[in-house]
Amino acid sequence: MKVLIIGSGGREHALAWKLKQSKKVSRLFIAPGNPGTRLHGENRTIPAEDVEGLRAFALKEQIDLTVVGPELPLTLGIVDAFNSSGLRIFGPTRHAAELEGSKVFCKELMVKYKIPTAWYKKFDNYEKAVSYIETHDGPYVVKADGLAAGKGVLICRTKKEAADAVDLIIRKKAFGVAGKRIIIEEFLEGEEASYLAITDGRTVVPLAPAQDHKAIFDGDRGPNTGGMGAYSPAPLITPALEKEIMETIMVPTVRAMEAEGRPYKGVLYAGLMISGGKPKVLEFNCRFGDPETQPILMRLEDDLFDLLLAAAEERLEGVTLNWGRPAVCVVMSSKGYPGDYRKGDGINGLEEASRLKDVMVFHAGTAMKEGKVVTSGGRVLGVTALGDDIKGAIENAYRAVSLISWDGAYYRLDIGKKAVKG
Ligand code: AMP
Ligand code: GLY
Repeated sequence: MKVLIIGSGGREHALAWKLKQSKKVSRLFIAPGNPGTRLHGENRTIPAEDVEGLRAFALKEQIDLTVVGPELPLTLGIVDAFNSSGLRIFGPTRHAAELEGSKVFCKELMVKYKIPTAWYKKFDNYEKAVSYIETHDGPYVVKADGLAAGKGVLICRTKKEAADAVDLIIRKKAFGVAGKRIIIEEFLEGEEASYLAITDGRTVVPLAPAQDHKAIFDGDRGPNTGGMGAYSPAPLITPALEKEIMETIMVPTVRAMEAEGRPYKGVLYAGLMISGGKPKVLEFNCRFGDPETQPILMRLEDDLFDLLLAAAEERLEGVTLNWGRPAVCVVMSSKGYPGDYRKGDGINGLEEASRLKDVMVFHAGTAMKEGKVVTSGGRVLGVTALGDDIKGAIENAYRAVSLISWDGAYYRLDIGKKAVKG
């Protein structure tokens, strides 16, 4: 079977690595891919948001299954475009992907179907939003409605900060049309977890729980990033809590989407806040998480191609998954990220690190220059390792990290620490 993966990050490298292990995958393409995905398949320089270019390529190559990494092509309607050309694709339609594409839609759905989440108000007017802030106590969470590359959420301690956030989004249009509407949401205390499942629109098959590290600095300090590391399993998510998450969040959301005439197929990723042992939804994503996918796929013992094909063909009933030892992913980033950073620095030690047992070095923001791998993004590598327990996985991941270097490499030193007791 011929498979096409869309995207170019660490998540897509992990998908390529895992899908290529399937005996059924005879040819694997990645568009546009990165120097890491090239080790498992053939890169094609078609941008992830070029829906027409990707459809033409899939038709020409007679691709049997397309797997979409990032959210943008999904919200642009790549699944609808492929379906209308009779091409098999794994992911939600444009209407279903609104679950991630519009926070207002997502909140209204959760309230209507009693899915646990923070209370909120929506606004499209600066004055009304500010007078709401004046009459309510903080902290406030101000969110742009649409996609804002992970930057559209502002946590504000004071009334002044909250009013500034509203000004930035609605009046200064910092996120363009994504900020035409905003929501102001209750601030939730607690610990975050990422809960991902694969669904064919009816059956919901959970993946192993994971935890991300969004802040740039150790101790969860500093601005949020796309994710500086992740581990799986997440001890925070006990079997009882997992059952509650499936019964009160994941399955009801898939049922709700069906009832709304937007049947949801693909990855359903719930960003959760666990507070007092109870889960609440912070957001839904309509795709695999990055970097959560890296440790999750290293742990998956089953054939990923079989799983994604079954989801695309609505045959998930009865499917259960098997999970191996714990895994930890440490993201190595360019100094300055999530702000400005330099590109083009040569990376040393990739081969030595990749030779270590139980280690995979997933590429994210890398490029080839004169035959050498160089940095080309904020998040550069996702160094991922298995271990007999989380502590062992952490040690293995950092051993590999210590072999890799470039001028301006940065990484957190405390990835996974939260999961280790004592
Ligand atoms: P989101 O894109 O909605 O997941 O928000 C990005 C990050 O902002 C989350 O991972 C949380 O760290 C934080 N966040 C979002 N909503 C809330 C909330 N209601 N209470 C506390 N933190 C939040
Ligand atoms: N790791 C966060 C995300 O994928 O959105």
